[in-house]
Amino acid sequence: MEVIIRETYDEMSQVAARMISDQLLRKPNSVLGLATGSTPIAVYRELVRLHREEGLDFSQIKTFNLDEYLGLAPTHPQSYRYFMNNHLFDHVNIPRGNIRFPYGHAHAVETFCEWYEAEIERCGGIDIQLLGVGTDGHIAFNEPGSSLGSRTRLKTLTEQTVRDNARFFDDIDQVPRFAITMGVGTILESKKICVLASGMGKADIVAQAIEGPVTASVTASALQLHRDVVVIVDADAACKLARADYYRWVHDQKSRLHQRDG
Ligand code: F6R
Repeated sequence: MEVIIRETYDEMSQVAARMISDQLLRKPNSVLGLATGSTPIAVYRELVRLHREEGLDFSQIKTFNLDEYLGLAPTHPQSYRYFMNNHLFDHVNIPRGNIRFPYGHAHAVETFCEWYEAEIERCGGIDIQLLGVGTDGHIAFNEPGSSLGSRTRLKTLTEQTVRDNARFFDDIDQVPRFAITMGVGTILESKKICVLASGMGKADIVAQAIEGPVTASVTASALQLHRDVVVIVDADAACKLARADYYRWVHDQKSRLHQRDG
């Protein structure tokens, strides 16, 4: 795992946006795995700026979102599709037909999930997957105890996640209890993974995920098994990392190497 620590949320978001734009420049028909939540908002803002001001092209990409609440229509302001339209899709030149989302209706969930997995494969797999981390260590909606080999499926949210997400709804009773989510196993098949975390509220779980044991109790810890993961955190989210100095040192050494070679 490469751990990049930046002082502020905006700085860490810039690093992540640059990583995605580099990917699009290298491979204009990249397949992107996308996350919602408050953490990646500034990444999307920067990608929109790069599109508008520097002509970053989204016309050939395909996207797969990690998760969606069961039963929320794409037009519902709290649906993840609405979020993505609002923060990215409506502001860049991605063809609507290239966007894949784990919609689902309770009666046909299994068939849908099989299709979603097959569709990722048909598109050649995810080139770069953007992830946030929940305060209980979840990635996508893989709550504690989820199988580390899990695939796209229906999940029941934990009470903690329902409480965390209540801030986006008028009333906690309106927060959906189910979601369709990519599994940990699905995520681990992405070619590259970029994990973001910001703020003191994430400091404990970031330390557990990066430096603790690999355990289904913290599904983000499974990322330690992936060969190409970059974790980008701000100073607050990094403050409980035992090896923070080492990660900063590694980053400095690499920058010097690049300057020398460049
Ligand atoms: C969202 C998702 C979730 C969030 C996580 C962190 O698509 O899959 O796992 O990444 O809940 O959310 P924020 O960024 O709001 O702290």
